[in-house]
Amino acid sequence: MSRYFLTTPIFYVNDAPHIGHAYTVLNGDAVSRWHRLLGDDVFYLTGTDEHGLKVQRAAEANGLSPLEQADGTSQRFREAWAELGVANDEFIRTTEARHHRSVQTLMQRAYDNGYIYSAVYDGWYSVSDEAYVSEEDVTESDVESGRVERMTEENYFFKLSEFEEPLLEWFEANPQNITPEGYRNEALGIIRGGLRDISITRTSINWGIPVPWAEGHVFYVWYDALTNYATAAGYGNDDERFAAWWPSVRHLLGKDIIRFHCVYWPAMLLAAGVQDLPHYHVHGWLLVGGEKMSKSAFNQISPTDLIGDFGVDGFRYSLLRDTPFGPDSEVSHEALQHRYNTDLANNFGNLLQRSSTLVHQKCDGIGPAPDPDHPLADIAAQVYADAAAAWDRFQPSVALEATWRLIRETNEYLQATEPWKMDPGPLVNTVLGNALEALRIVCVLASPAIPTSCEAAWTRLGLDGSPLDQRLPAAAVWGQYPGGLPVAGGDPLFPRLKG
Ligand code: MSP
Repeated sequence: MSRYFLTTPIFYVNDAPHIGHAYTVLNGDAVSRWHRLLGDDVFYLTGTDEHGLKVQRAAEANGLSPLEQADGTSQRFREAWAELGVANDEFIRTTEARHHRSVQTLMQRAYDNGYIYSAVYDGWYSVSDEAYVSEEDVTESDVESGRVERMTEENYFFKLSEFEEPLLEWFEANPQNITPEGYRNEALGIIRGGLRDISITRTSINWGIPVPWAEGHVFYVWYDALTNYATAAGYGNDDERFAAWWPSVRHLLGKDIIRFHCVYWPAMLLAAGVQDLPHYHVHGWLLVGGEKMSKSAFNQISPTDLIGDFGVDGFRYSLLRDTPFGPDSEVSHEALQHRYNTDLANNFGNLLQRSSTLVHQKCDGIGPAPDPDHPLADIAAQVYADAAAAWDRFQPSVALEATWRLIRETNEYLQATEPWKMDPGPLVNTVLGNALEALRIVCVLASPAIPTSCEAAWTRLGLDGSPLDQRLPAAAVWGQYPGGLPVAGGDPLFPRLKG
């Protein structure tokens, strides 16, 4: 069995969850659900990033201690993902004791290996990005608006500059390490542009993880945060677990945090003696009116609002299907609603509704078996191949588009054969058996995006168990609907939305 360890970025606890965050988590949820269907041993991780100046200041503004701020907001993220049906295996918080041990172990090893030294940092810092900003990137307005602040303090530095060559070698040896390709080039460009050593500890704040070899210093929040992935795999706490899981790690991230994930983090792993470096899947931003959805732009949409309008699966599907993974995507209520009505209400919902109604009218409510040699079998095989390839490339929107071809072709088949005009008998049985079989396969293939609806449809088909427990590719092979099962009617699975 192969292991599949997938992570999302961990979210800052100064901000409430919005659909930009949900976008990352839902893509990861769908892809990891697909891998569970393949029978992989999956570990899907998300969590919250709780240290640093940004959180410390948000807490002060709210009249809370940093930990109170973190406790409250971390819980909101946890609840938001549960509400969206996200099946993460763990939720990590950087304030946990196991994480402190892991960060201190990793950093101590890099220190012992000679990659960390002490010097004075005198330069600019952006609290909103939690990032050091070089002199040439600072404008007068950055200083006047307070976007960057001057900082002069004794720090420990990481010898990032020594990792230019090892990182370039790693890129060369692993042409697939970052997808899509454009983002790989961006990371390569950063490395080729030259790497300078970076400050990795702070003395002016105390909301962080203490540096084991230097009293009064805490680690720079990005190194603390990045190490969460290793912590969850067991680093510094359970070496056997770490050895088992780490080689399969894949990081999912937004394009704004490429430098940290794809340059700083692998260098730090190498410095600590960890030779297995991650794979990355990078996505663009969700835009509202052309602007990135963010706290500062005042254009945040909460997932809860959209669940109210579309239902959990309606929101999950429309978002995943409408936003190709990689480029930026504009989101709007109109577009999501259009997608919902077209693909869920009119196509999937309608196929299930008309098939079950006809089984009641023509077959006494007992679902007939399909024709094992029907041409829809070839379409199902092609759909599986296309969907599997797209999931494998981390392209949920393409995988869903491929899956919906089977729904469309089956609806067209019903349109062409007109079973509603047929008398009860073998002919209508075969037509409806074929429709039920197509639905059975769709329930499995669509379940990573819309698990609850696929389970409901599966039960209506009279099938035992759950589509979530099926194994691919076997479950996608045509001809397995057994026939003779009671098919249930009921309200439409996806009521059409108006207005
Ligand atoms: N805490 C850091 C990540 C540390 S990971 C070791 C952070 N947090 S964040 O909450 O600001 O962002 C987390 C993720 O959400 C990022 O991948 C970011 O790209 C994503 N998104 C935040 N707003 C987004 C959109 N509007 N659209 C798509 N993704 C967005 O960065």
